[in-house]
Amino acid sequence: MTAHTDTRAAYAIVGTIDDIPAQGARCVTMGETRVAVFRTADDRIFALEDRCPHRGGPLSQGIVHDGCVTCPLHNWVISLQSGRATGADDGATCTFDVRLEGRTIHLAMRAND
Ligand code: FES
Repeated sequence: MTAHTDTRAAYAIVGTIDDIPAQGARCVTMGETRVAVFRTADDRIFALEDRCPHRGGPLSQGIVHDGCVTCPLHNWVISLQSGRATGADDGATCTFDVRLEGRTIHLAMRAND
């Protein structure tokens, strides 16, 4: 992982979009936090802490669909954009900013507030 900074925040290069299967995820470790970097079917990239807001399930092993990921443990559906549970469920996981430069993924080294 290569770290660099810009005017807004510190970012790390965590690979390329080609390292992640469409509708899949790849995990990276940011300090003590596991971050799941997701690729949607239409090649958008999102990053969430790899920890479901319900009981901590591994979101990186969930099903990616419609801008969301379904947790593999109890099927909560989490928005990739906001990290919030959808539908009747309540809770949120941390989001991280990601930028694509070409096909290279830059991941913010700090979670959003
Ligand atoms: S731990 Fe994710 S739905 Fe229960």
